[in-house]
Amino acid sequence: MELWIATSNEGKLREIRSLLMEKNIQVHAQGELSYFSPPPETGTSFEANARLKAKALKAVKPDCWVLGEDSGLEVEGLSKMPGIHSARYAGPKASAAENNAKLLKMLDLRSFNQRAAKFICVMVVYDPAGKEHVFSGTLPGEIAKKAQGTTGFGYDPIFIPEGETKTLAELGAALKNKISHRSQALRQLLSVL
Ligand code: IMP
Repeated sequence: MELWIATSNEGKLREIRSLLMEKNIQVHAQGELSYFSPPPETGTSFEANARLKAKALKAVKPDCWVLGEDSGLEVEGLSKMPGIHSARYAGPKASAAENNAKLLKMLDLRSFNQRAAKFICVMVVYDPAGKEHVFSGTLPGEIAKKAQGTTGFGYDPIFIPEGETKTLAELGAALKNKISHRSQALRQLLSVL
């Protein structure tokens, strides 16, 4: 079967591909469609944004399975920011390193040190008949004192999963794929495919 993914984030795509690889699913991404332009992320929740992405791609791939994904990091001591603004926390074109630096700085500015955080992932999937399925995953942990490690993407260098002492970017792809918010949601999807 073919599954179209509504993302241009290479880090997410890499993880989704590697988790679906053995399942004989042909994974395609919106980047293969030169005429497709993704919608603005105007939703006020992960689910709303995942739905916007999935709906836009479903409109041009009506007969296929289509997956929209929205994810981000909620930090307790920052009133759950950056949340749905995770990709653009330090500005509209911010790099992951800039986002990480801003988040560490914001936590340093706090008088109390509340570094508990969680990654959240919501997937909205449309099947070929147009039925909507919603899946989600959460990975609890805390924000490290400084960025460490080189694997993964986004906030991985500053996120220490619960029960670990190293960041996701130090722990590597195999461990991340076992426990991540994204892999939890994908396993739910696999159970209905
Ligand atoms: P969006 O879902 O495309 O709006 O962007 C999600 C943003 O959240 C990414 O650009 C990352 O900054 C962050 N994010 C989501 N999932 C992960 C993850 O697994 N590791 C690190 N950062 C993530």
